[in-house]
Amino acid sequence: MKLELVVALTIWMAGILGGECKVVQFIFGDSLSDVGNNMHLSKSLAQASLPWYGIDFGNGLPNGRFTNGRTVADIIGDSTGLPRPPAFLDPSLTEDLILENGVNYASGGGGILNETGGYFIQRLSLNKQIELFQGTQRMIINKIGEEKSKRFFQESQYVVALGSNDFINNYLMPVYSDSWKYNDQTFIDYLMSTLEGQLRKLHSLGARELIVFGLGPMGCIPLQRVLSTTGECQEKTNKLALAFNKASSKLLDKLSTRLANASFKFGDAYDVVNDVISNPYKYGFNNSDSPCCSFGQIRPALTCLPASTLCEDRSKYVFWDEYHPSDSANELIARELIKKFGFTRVNGTKAPASAPSPAMAPSHALAPSPEG
Ligand SMILES: *[C@@H]1O[C@H](CO)[C@@H](O)[C@H](O)[C@H]1NC(C)=O
Ligand SMILES: *[C@@H]1O[C@H](CO)[C@@H](O)[C@H](O)[C@H]1NC(C)=O
Ligand SMILES: *[C@@H]1O[C@H](CO)[C@@H](O)[C@H](O)[C@H]1NC(C)=O
Ligand SMILES: *[C@@H]1O[C@H](CO)[C@@H](O)[C@H](O)[C@H]1NC(C)=O
Repeated sequence: MKLELVVALTIWMAGILGGECKVVQFIFGDSLSDVGNNMHLSKSLAQASLPWYGIDFGNGLPNGRFTNGRTVADIIGDSTGLPRPPAFLDPSLTEDLILENGVNYASGGGGILNETGGYFIQRLSLNKQIELFQGTQRMIINKIGEEKSKRFFQESQYVVALGSNDFINNYLMPVYSDSWKYNDQTFIDYLMSTLEGQLRKLHSLGARELIVFGLGPMGCIPLQRVLSTTGECQEKTNKLALAFNKASSKLLDKLSTRLANASFKFGDAYDVVNDVISNPYKYGFNNSDSPCCSFGQIRPALTCLPASTLCEDRSKYVFWDEYHPSDSANELIARELIKKFGFTRVNGTKAPASAPSPAMAPSHALAPSPEG
């Protein structure tokens, strides 16, 4: 054998034996990203463990996702060729599975603030999710050592997607003391200083490639409309979402320049979702103001239940239940975020790609493509 070949082979073997790690995702979020954590929180009132949740995903049984099909994070991850991370509380989670797939800590009812969603009794706040991530890091260090772990966690992708509950299930509900302790501006300042600390913490733990999802027009979720006397969107709530997005975008720009080697990005789909809500037909939807899964005339229904009735065509509804978008709406949101984050579409190669990027199946933007 030629010397060069031997050298090349040796380097290649060292790579294999040295156990090059895959690029995986660590996801922090709320019900919009939960893939089963709350199912394992037996006392939590925020549950997607009954039919008809998951009806358009895999075998159609509930899987912990608070929608009929895929989450936005599922769709974005798929399009960048990353595996879907399992729920942290899934009892079958092992170090090997974490190294192959990452972990999803998202929990329905969770918020940026510890006190958010207290009404649900059990949920994982962002602080709690970060503590669990630190536990994951200790497990991985024990398994593959300090040096390799450091590289693994620095090369991973991080998704942080919370904030709706801090408004809907905290600030806007008079049962929470934050609703009378703060005004719009001071509450958003409080959220931003908390989020800044959390993102800095993730950076100190190794996060370098991190994306934050902003909020949609949450004053237009069916629950907010039914609570308004006119059935219109609650503009006050929408203004809060816009203010949150603006402040978050500024925060992420600041952190990205100040933190070493950090690519921290913010993206939201507010405008496109707002347009879909005003002009559903233009986007192939037929309903943008009521939940596909509803309980007779009783509104708001707190959740989708086995006794609920479903709309005729789930792909035509923007909202699946009172709070959460349908699979088709999530697809539209994901495509907008993919564009904003600069992940290229269709042939699916992510701009600063370190991950394998199989072609993203070209599908009609609004075609239901449930799978699992
Ligand atoms: C929030 O909860 C975490 C534990 O998850 C705790 O360490 C932290 O001090 C709490 N923060 C505040 C502001 O209460
Ligand atoms: C930033 O990247 C450089 C080059 O890869 C490396 O030497 C340095 O240690 C990194 N700094 C941090 C804080 O990650
Ligand atoms: C759209 O909605 C209208 C009225 O609500 C209904 O007549 C029509 O059949 C719906 N179309 C589809 C494809 O669901
Ligand atoms: C990717 O898409 C672009 C434009 O849509 C096209 O020109 C190019 O040939 C595609 N590349 C591959 C490898 O399919």
